[in-house]
Amino acid sequence: MRIGVLTGGGDCPGLNAVIRAVVRKGIDAHGWDVIGYRSGWQGPMTGESKPLGLDSVEDILTRGGTILGSSRTNPYKADGGVEQIRATLAKDGVDALIAIGGEDTLGVAKRLTDDGIGVVGVPKTIDNDLGATDYTFGFDTAVHIATEAIDRLHTTAESHHRALVVEVMGRHAGWIALHSGLAGGASVILVPERQFSVPQVVEWVERRFEREYAPIIVVAEGALPEGGAEMLQSGEKDAFGHVRLGGIGTWLAEEIAQRTGKESRAVVLGHTQRGGTPTAYDRVLATRFGLNAVDAVADKDFGTMVALRGTDIVRVKLSEATAELKTVPAERYAEAEVFFG
Ligand code: F6P
Repeated sequence: MRIGVLTGGGDCPGLNAVIRAVVRKGIDAHGWDVIGYRSGWQGPMTGESKPLGLDSVEDILTRGGTILGSSRTNPYKADGGVEQIRATLAKDGVDALIAIGGEDTLGVAKRLTDDGIGVVGVPKTIDNDLGATDYTFGFDTAVHIATEAIDRLHTTAESHHRALVVEVMGRHAGWIALHSGLAGGASVILVPERQFSVPQVVEWVERRFEREYAPIIVVAEGALPEGGAEMLQSGEKDAFGHVRLGGIGTWLAEEIAQRTGKESRAVVLGHTQRGGTPTAYDRVLATRFGLNAVDAVADKDFGTMVALRGTDIVRVKLSEATAELKTVPAERYAEAEVFFG
């Protein structure tokens, strides 16, 4: 048997750990050939691939990014995209694919399965917004990076008696903001799930200053002021219809400065949250996902995604996983609100 593996969408720490587990178990336990398709769904469309032998996955467990490259290519938006994939798989003699990705990559995986191509999904995203799994790998690393940044910003903010606004990733789900803000002792956490009132944020900021502490405000890139619109870096849409968000942190820092008369600065963490070596937690989760994805392929259980439920890895339908985004529930946000101000 020959299988293909690909990584799609925004990269995240832990992708290489999945690839390594797939290759190790696919070859050692099953005697399969493993091919890596390059740059997400672009690889199976254009035929760009490389053989993945045991030596090609040595030393990649701890490495961030993906040795296969990634892209946001959508075969359902390209003329004849699905037929190209079918032709590549036939030419390469590939019987099944393991697709490692978030909602977009796995949404394509689901449609391809419906169209008769055998795909098993592995959930990745720093945003932790995929349904049907308790956690995605990459999230823990992103939260660690953001928390470390917040810890550092506390000391410089206090030295200068400034407010510091930290913009983190999260278009529609505020998980990174919530977890890093809680872990980092933020004075305010703003998430896309709950519109915020600027006067209320200013009140919390002032309360913090009154206690001789410098406030740290963590804001997800997709957070919205009441009655406001998303802040865009570019209105141009990618193949999955996403615009590029960014700018809310700078805007909010200016509002705070104007309304409080205190100095205020914005820090945009951006892609640092996606880079570098994965945490031990993410390496283990990614490895377990990879091993279980191989089992699903061996069972020909296509159209499924491996998922974390408690401490167990289970299989769920791709349709369930991609049905709706997992956003921050009101009760989880309420826990954080206790610490605002
Ligand atoms: O989906 C992961 C993510 O990092 C989002 O949090 C962020 O909005 C987006 O990707 C950024 O995408 P790009 O790397 O294409 O700028």
